[in-house]
Amino acid sequence: MTQITPHLWRHTTYNQYIDLTFNQYLAGVSEPVLIHTGAESDAPSLLKALEGRKVSSIFVSHFESDECGALSTVLSIYPAAKVIAGEVTARQITGFGIKADVTIARDGEVLTLGDLELEMIAYPSEMHLWDGLLAYERKNKIFFSSDLMIRYGHSEEERHKSNWKVEVEAISPIQVADEARRGALKERLLALSVDLVAPGHGPILNV
Ligand SMILES: [Fe+2]
Ligand SMILES: [Fe+2]
Repeated sequence: MTQITPHLWRHTTYNQYIDLTFNQYLAGVSEPVLIHTGAESDAPSLLKALEGRKVSSIFVSHFESDECGALSTVLSIYPAAKVIAGEVTARQITGFGIKADVTIARDGEVLTLGDLELEMIAYPSEMHLWDGLLAYERKNKIFFSSDLMIRYGHSEEERHKSNWKVEVEAISPIQVADEARRGALKERLLALSVDLVAPGHGPILNV
C-alpha cells in the first residue's frame, strides 16, 4: 500500500480497457477501516498489500463490483471485520448470500472508529437511484468520494491539486440524476471542511 498521510494508505489497480484506476483505502491506525474491496479479480493484489495489517471494518459506499466485489474473499481473511454500509447496500449483501456482519449506517450518522470519526453522507448512487453513502473523516478532513470527483487515466502514484468548490460543483447529472437531490448533496458537501479527497478512481486530490 502507498502511504498518503500518517492515517491513510492506498492500493490501486488499473484497467487499461477502460483507462481507469480502482482505489481501495486503509484509513486509521488503531481501528483501521478498509474503504472498498475492489472487484474479486483485485482481491489477490489487495490482500497481499494488506498482509500483516489489521482491518477492523470495511466501508462499502454502494453495492457494485468495484466497490465490494471481493467482499467475501476479504472477509474470509478478516472474518471479524464489520461491514459498514447503507440500508440498500446491506440488503444487497444479504440478498446475494454474502456472510457478513453488517452495520447499517444512516445519513448524518458519525461513526467513531478508533482514531477516526466517519461522517455518513447519503448520495443517490445505486440502480433505481437508491442511496449509497459517502464518508467524511472529520479529524483528518478526508472525503472518501467513491464514484464522485474521479479522473480517468493511469495515475497510480499521483496527487493532484484541485479546489473543493470546483470539485463539488462538477458533480454532474450523469452522476446524480435527480436535480433536487444533486443540489442538496452539493449544498451539504460545500459545508464540509475538506483537505484531501480520496476518490474511488483516479488520483488523490489536495483541495
Ligand atoms: Fe460504483
Ligand atoms: Fe467505482
